[in-house]
Amino acid sequence: MSQPFPPARFAGYEAAPNIALVKYWGMRDDRLVLPRNSSLSMTVSRLRTRTWVRFDPSLRSDRFSLNGRPAGGGPLQGAVDFLDVVREEAGVSMFAEIRSHNNFPTASGLASSASGFAALAGAASLAAGLRWSPREMSRLARRGSGSASRSIFGGFVEWQAGRRPDGRDCFARPLFRADHWPELRDIVVLIADAPEKRVRSARAMQETVRTSPAYSERQRTVAGRLAALRTALRTRSADRFLALIMEECDDFRRVCETTVPSLDYLTPSSRAVLAAVLDLNRRAGHPVAGYTHDAGAHVHVFTFQKYVPRVRSRLRRIPGVSATRVLSPGPAARVIGVRSRSA
Ligand code: PMV
Repeated sequence: MSQPFPPARFAGYEAAPNIALVKYWGMRDDRLVLPRNSSLSMTVSRLRTRTWVRFDPSLRSDRFSLNGRPAGGGPLQGAVDFLDVVREEAGVSMFAEIRSHNNFPTASGLASSASGFAALAGAASLAAGLRWSPREMSRLARRGSGSASRSIFGGFVEWQAGRRPDGRDCFARPLFRADHWPELRDIVVLIADAPEKRVRSARAMQETVRTSPAYSERQRTVAGRLAALRTALRTRSADRFLALIMEECDDFRRVCETTVPSLDYLTPSSRAVLAAVLDLNRRAGHPVAGYTHDAGAHVHVFTFQKYVPRVRSRLRRIPGVSATRVLSPGPAARVIGVRSRSA
């Protein structure tokens, strides 16, 4: 049994969101969050979640505040379920207090669950006295939200699906560091009328597995696309990289749209962003940008520093685009401190 360290003091951890370039969509085990295919992402700069956790014998229940407000409902339940996993691993029976802050709008479609559960995995395991490696932390973060397994690492990250039923071989690993491709940029295009998520991703993807006639074809091709993307990244092949992320995004959208009932995450403005990227490439005569999106209406447009002004001014003119933010590959999750009060 591990000793919470130091007892009743807050352990702090920070993590950034990631954007999937090859998507995780479908689980082979939904309790252990074991995916059906490996995925590949980029952890981003500038955005982050900071989370402080303490286990305290005087607490009568778990507490969770998000951006200074007590959380309830689904978010609180998700945090409690996750703490149960940590308590079991650490042999700790105390309740915990969690204080979490995002420096970006929560549930804005900017993957707050990835940075949120990565930061919580780090803070809670530290507070519970578990001295874990990043790989072990990645395995733990996965239990909160699959994509969180990738936010433990910076730069370009692959989450390997593994084969074992117990998930011991299912964790993320860093592929290339954040400074691997210094010119690469991710312009996040925020859509003003982005609807709230109606169905959690974890549930929606299982509906896809069950009902989409395109899903088995995706499962046949996705590993090859991941390998090709790994090579495009390693060799910094801009044209291949941009083509592959769009091909993957289109495939992901196809399985969502053919799910019964159909999952349509985009708004007309999001679709106008995708069309503008294709038009920019057509006019340039070669690829200057590539799009991708997750289970939400916002779009990530990848490009290179020299094209940012051109691409950004085009995207900003699209009706319904509320803001654009230019991000780069970002850092790994890290400890931010241990103290008697949270920051
Ligand atoms: O980790 P979850 O349950 O939030 O699901 C993530 C699903 C996608 O964002 C669409 C794809 C991915 O790999 O991040």
